[in-house]
Amino acid sequence: MSTVITNDRIPNNVHLADDKRLQRALEAWQPNYINWWKEMGPAGFQEDDVFLRTAISVDHEGWAHFDYVKMPDYRWGIFLADAVKDRTIGFGDNMGQPVWQEIPGEHRNALRRLVVTQADTEPASVEQQRLLGQTCPSVYDLRNLFQVNVEEGRHLWAMVYLLHSYFGRDGREEADALLERRSGDPDKPRILGAFNEPCTDWLSFFMFTFFTDRDGKYQLLALAESAFDPLSRTTRFMLTEEAHHMFVGETGVLRVVDRTSKLMAENKKDHPDDVRKLGLVDLPTIQKYLNLWYSLSLDLFGGEVSSNAASFFASGLKGRAKEASYEDHVALTATYAMDVVRDGKLVREDVPLRNAMNEVLRDEYVEDCQRGVDKWNRTIKEHGIDFELVLPHRRFHRHIGVFAGTHFDPKGNPLTKAEWDAQKDAWLPSEADKAYVKSLMTKPIYEPQKMANWISAPKQGIKGRPVDFEYVRHHV
Ligand SMILES: [Fe+2]
Ligand SMILES: [Fe+2]
Repeated sequence: MSTVITNDRIPNNVHLADDKRLQRALEAWQPNYINWWKEMGPAGFQEDDVFLRTAISVDHEGWAHFDYVKMPDYRWGIFLADAVKDRTIGFGDNMGQPVWQEIPGEHRNALRRLVVTQADTEPASVEQQRLLGQTCPSVYDLRNLFQVNVEEGRHLWAMVYLLHSYFGRDGREEADALLERRSGDPDKPRILGAFNEPCTDWLSFFMFTFFTDRDGKYQLLALAESAFDPLSRTTRFMLTEEAHHMFVGETGVLRVVDRTSKLMAENKKDHPDDVRKLGLVDLPTIQKYLNLWYSLSLDLFGGEVSSNAASFFASGLKGRAKEASYEDHVALTATYAMDVVRDGKLVREDVPLRNAMNEVLRDEYVEDCQRGVDKWNRTIKEHGIDFELVLPHRRFHRHIGVFAGTHFDPKGNPLTKAEWDAQKDAWLPSEADKAYVKSLMTKPIYEPQKMANWISAPKQGIKGRPVDFEYVRHHV
């Protein structure tokens, strides 16, 4: 079991104090990080006491500590999951060889790109969510938002530790740049599309934490297989925290769906206009938000046919999620049949499996998303409402990969641009839909006993506390 040093300026289980140069470099980055947090973290709540979970070790039992903390004082630490003894590379051309504790020179650039791309998503999401506290539906939700935010901050620390430790000067420069890009800024945007999209209402936040954080889960699972052992150990521990983010999304959407369906049944209303008169998000609008965030998140997996994915797999940098569950870990002879667009037409092609690794990971993701959607649908059904939420076809509304630049309806049927333009407001949130959803969320709710009208109360509180516990002591 690794020892945890919590009294250092940077809590860690990587013996930071034994490497003075690294320690000094990270301690020099720390104030810049805090400045970034104060500027781009939750706006208006930096002085509040928030009941937060802080990672304090990687021990399965008791890895986290819960208490009130002011967010700028959060103890962002560096924690690597315990090393697996005699771990060997589990896939690709170097399968069976010992994993790497240092980065082989020839893989340095590719690995740095993988680490930086993952790292960039962490502060990006904090930036996207920075104004949400000002319209929170409850103190319980406010706390969950901040929990997600501080942990994304810790994930940034996890990646910056790798950059500083293993990538020399380039890594230090990349670590600085992570604090300089800004979500949605046209001059210095974040790297990936979905992380530049505005996320300024709570329905979007719940969809984001369900769909976009779940992309994070699959990327982390794939990186946890990496031959570069420190990356594997870091991402394994990040997954522990990530589970809560997806819980926030899944139960958040569930509570919106539950509230709408319940009041639809009680008031015997099913027309969306009547549902809106009740101050609720109507189910077709929920479907549109789902369509938007699901399709944006599908893009995060990258192109369906990718030579980068093939070389990441070949060299052992990035595997498949739960690589051990597959039979063939070399994937040199197998193919993957997929639909691609050729001369404007859909055709089925056999792609060498290594080049299809993004699509393989996307398959796992789609299946996982469906499990959540099924739960939401069970709730709608329990209230006796005849409506079903569906995941749109993976060709719908794509901006990356073989379907980018072409148009498809949510069932995956090809459309002309004119047909798309004429109908897209039926499938994606229109300006009017966005304005309506925002109109439900103009005022924050800071009284622990209250819950906004458009969402059901959660079934239980956090860490054994009641739902109406004062999770955030907000100083107005
Ligand atoms: Fe994260
Ligand atoms: Fe997350």
